[in-house]
Amino acid sequence: MAVRLLTKLKVLPDVRGSVNFSSKAAPATLSDFDVQHKTPVIRKQKLIPKAQYGGRHAVTMLPGGGIGPECMGYVRDIFKYIGAPIDFEVVDIDPTMDNDDDVQYAITTIKRNGVGLKGNIETKSEAAYVTSRNVALRNELDMYAYILNCKSYPGVATRHKDIDVVIIRQNTEGEYAMLEHESVNGVVESMKVVTADNSERVARFAFEFAKKNGRKKVTTVHKANIMKLSDGLFLETSRRLAKEYPDIEHNDMIIDNCCMQLVAKPHQFDVMLMTNLYGSIVSNVVCGLLGGAGLLSGRNYGDHYAVFEPGTRNTGTAIAGKNIANPIAMINASIDMLEHLGHQFHASLLRRAINKTINVDRVLTPDLGGSNTSTDVVGAILQNVGRC
Ligand code: NAI
Repeated sequence: MAVRLLTKLKVLPDVRGSVNFSSKAAPATLSDFDVQHKTPVIRKQKLIPKAQYGGRHAVTMLPGGGIGPECMGYVRDIFKYIGAPIDFEVVDIDPTMDNDDDVQYAITTIKRNGVGLKGNIETKSEAAYVTSRNVALRNELDMYAYILNCKSYPGVATRHKDIDVVIIRQNTEGEYAMLEHESVNGVVESMKVVTADNSERVARFAFEFAKKNGRKKVTTVHKANIMKLSDGLFLETSRRLAKEYPDIEHNDMIIDNCCMQLVAKPHQFDVMLMTNLYGSIVSNVVCGLLGGAGLLSGRNYGDHYAVFEPGTRNTGTAIAGKNIANPIAMINASIDMLEHLGHQFHASLLRRAINKTINVDRVLTPDLGGSNTSTDVVGAILQNVGRC
């Protein structure tokens, strides 16, 4: 049925081909349910060694739309200045195209390089069968977990000080399944897909993260009082996993209350675990509390690939080309990427330079209440690299 539906929607064969029929882990014949729900078993990736030439890493750079290209330009200038051992393979994705050729090429390069740095990729087509490029990328690379480190910068004026929260979000299913249909005229149904396998993978990821990083508490955020089966499965899975980590406190909170608690008493949270859409909403709430879309960075992780990007994944189209976009979120994403690849020296150098730029020199773009340009901020970071 699913294959028939894809054919009816004119999904191209290579999009359907994303289901790895040859995977050893996949059963010989797939049920419609397996194909439609893209189970993690089917999506298991074959590991390709990361490209590294003469001590340098190759990294796929996807500038995306809006402020993406200018922010990537700043990252390249900074990397050149500090001599970061990274060679970028730049892939531009045309947002107006209805076919997925560009995205498939981008995915291939990330598979080859193992790592990507990205801006928000727009999907301008309104055709129902054209899926979001950002979602396709995460799904094809099976990057099932998203981490957003939300730590206050003392130099940014905010209502709450000293927030230090980590959001861990399921990144490949849930409300982003993009399975919608009009069952009868005027009735549209949208499927939220929660699987036991992916719930367990992301819950384990959260508890392991908490354990390795000396965190004390994991809070599962849900709406299991209404979505008793889907969110119920997610919640029950995290409760079961919590028993394997007796040193870490575990509690849960309904998403509505969670948003209220976050804006009123954010310090009660430590690590937060949630499904896909709640993760996006909560990320935006917390970024808003800490200074907006231009500061924090997010990390997409699977078992084999990692992609780094600004935390709220905005495009910033309205401010593109005006030299006012805050470049810090993208620079922070590039620092996460350096850390992931083991280039700790360059990563620490840049983190110190950013902290001094924001907290001491207070060189701030308008979104943070300042009057500096994007290039002022980048210039200050470069100056501070030499001083920190
Ligand atoms: P937007 O791109 O309009 O940004 C929201 C606000 O944040 C705007 O006022 C913008 O000027 C500001 N902003 C963003 N980045 C900034 C920066 N670096 N420095 C200073 N200000 C910055 O966001 P919107 O309308 O939410 O989304 C636009 C596109 O992004 C849509 O295609 C949407 O699908 C996509 N998107 C948005 C996500 C979100 O969490 N808001 C998540 C994923 C995709």
